[in-house]
Amino acid sequence: MTGSRHLPQERRFPLRRTPRGCAYVCFLTQALLVPRMLLALGVLVLSLAGATEVQVPDEPVVALFGQDATLHCSFSPDANFSLDDLTLIWQLTDTKRLVHSFSGGRDQLLDQGGDYANRTALFYDQLAQGNVSLLLRRVEVSDEGSFTCFVRDSSSAAVTLQVAAPYSKPIMYLEPNKDLKPGDLVAVTCHASRGYPQASVLWQDGQGSNITENITTSQVANEEGLFDVHSVLQVLVEPSITYSCLVRNPVLQEETRASVTITGQHPRFPTVALWVTVALAICVLGLLIVLAYVCQKKIRESCEEEEENAGTEEQIEEGEESKTALQPLKSKESKDDNEQEID
Ligand SMILES: *[C@@H]1O[C@H](CO)[C@@H](O)[C@H](O)[C@H]1NC(C)=O
Ligand SMILES: *[C@@H]1O[C@H](CO)[C@@H](O)[C@H](O)[C@H]1NC(C)=O
Ligand SMILES: *[C@@H]1O[C@H](CO)[C@@H](O)[C@H](O)[C@H]1NC(C)=O
Ligand SMILES: *[C@@H]1O[C@H](CO)[C@@H](O)[C@H](O)[C@H]1NC(C)=O
Ligand SMILES: *[C@@H]1O[C@H](CO)[C@@H](O)[C@H](O)[C@H]1NC(C)=O
Repeated sequence: MTGSRHLPQERRFPLRRTPRGCAYVCFLTQALLVPRMLLALGVLVLSLAGATEVQVPDEPVVALFGQDATLHCSFSPDANFSLDDLTLIWQLTDTKRLVHSFSGGRDQLLDQGGDYANRTALFYDQLAQGNVSLLLRRVEVSDEGSFTCFVRDSSSAAVTLQVAAPYSKPIMYLEPNKDLKPGDLVAVTCHASRGYPQASVLWQDGQGSNITENITTSQVANEEGLFDVHSVLQVLVEPSITYSCLVRNPVLQEETRASVTITGQHPRFPTVALWVTVALAICVLGLLIVLAYVCQKKIRESCEEEEENAGTEEQIEEGEESKTALQPLKSKESKDDNEQEID
C-alpha cells in the first residue's frame, strides 16, 4: 500500500498541498475525520490514513505486451456515496499526464494524453462500490511506469506497471557453416526476438556446464521497444560437440532454449556419400541385370541351336501340353482371389 499521510490542517484548508507534491496529496471527508479526531488526537494521522486511503497493490502489475492490463485501485465509499460525487483522476506519477478522469458521473477525456485515446476504461458497474480500477488496453512498452490513482475526498496512491513480452524460441546458426574441420574457429549465433525486458543469455555445453568466455551479446530494441537478442559464442570446432543457448526473461521467469551440434567433418559429405553410394549401387544392379539377360539369351540361343538339331515338332507338342496343364490351375487361383476380395 503506497498511501499518503495526512495532516490535520488539511481539514481546515482542504485544497492546500503538502510540500511533498501532489502525487501523495490526500483529501478526507469531514464525515470520517471529525469522529476520529475526537477519538485519539495523538494517533490521528495513522488512523485516518488507514481508514480512508485508496487501496492499490503493493507489487508491480505485470502486463503482457499487446494485451489488456487492469491497474487495481479502490476505496471505501460513504454510505450516502453517489457516483455524481466521485472525482477520479488517473495520471502518470512523474509527468502528471492525464490517463483517464471521471467526474460529474461521466468520463472526462478532453485533456487525456494522446497515447491513451481509446485505450482506457473504468469498470463502470463497480464504481459505486469504490472500485476505480483502470483498464488499459493493448499495453505498450512505453506504458511501463507508475500510475497515480487519485480520488477526491479520499486519497491517492501509485500503481507500478511492468511490461513483459516472452522471447521467441532461439534460432541458432554457425558462421562459417560448412567445411568445418576440428580446430577451425566458428561463431555460433543465438538469436531470440521480440521480448521485454532485456534477457539474460546463458550458454551451456553438452554436459550442461556454463560457458562464460568468448561470448558477445547484444540486445537491440525495435520501434515497439521490444528487444532482439543476438549472442555470439566463438569456439574452436571439435569432432562433435553440442552448444545450448538459454534466453531468460527475468520478469516472466521464463526460459527459451535451443541447441546446435557441431561436427568437425565436412557436414555435407555424409549426405553426398550416401547418394553416390545409392547411385553406384543402382548402376551396378542395372549392369548385373543387363548382363544376366544377355547371358541368359546367349545360353538359350545355344540351347535352341542344339534343340533345332534334335527336331522342331517335338518342341511344339511339349509347349501345348504345358499350356493345357496350367489352365485349370490358373482359373482356380483367380476364383480364390475373388472370394478373398468379397470377404
Ligand atoms: C453524507 O452524509 C453526511 C452526514 O451523514 C453528510 O455530512 C455528507 O455531506 C453527506 N455526503 C454527501 C456526499 O451527500
Ligand atoms: C478513437 O476511436 C474513435 C471512434 O472509434 C475514432 O474516431 C478515433 O480516431 C480513435 N482515436 C484514436 C487515437 O485511435
Ligand atoms: C475491481 O474490478 C476489477 C474488474 O472487474 C476486479 O478485477 C477487481 O478485483 C475489483 N477490485 C475490487 C477491490 O473489488
Ligand atoms: C550457470 O549459471 C547460472 C546463471 O548464472 C546459474 O544459475 C547456474 O547455477 C549455473 N550452473 C552451473 C552448472 O554452474
Ligand atoms: C576464447 O578465445 C581465445 C582466443 O580465441 C582462446 O584462446 C580461449 O581458449 C577461448 N576460451 C574458451 C573458454 O574457449
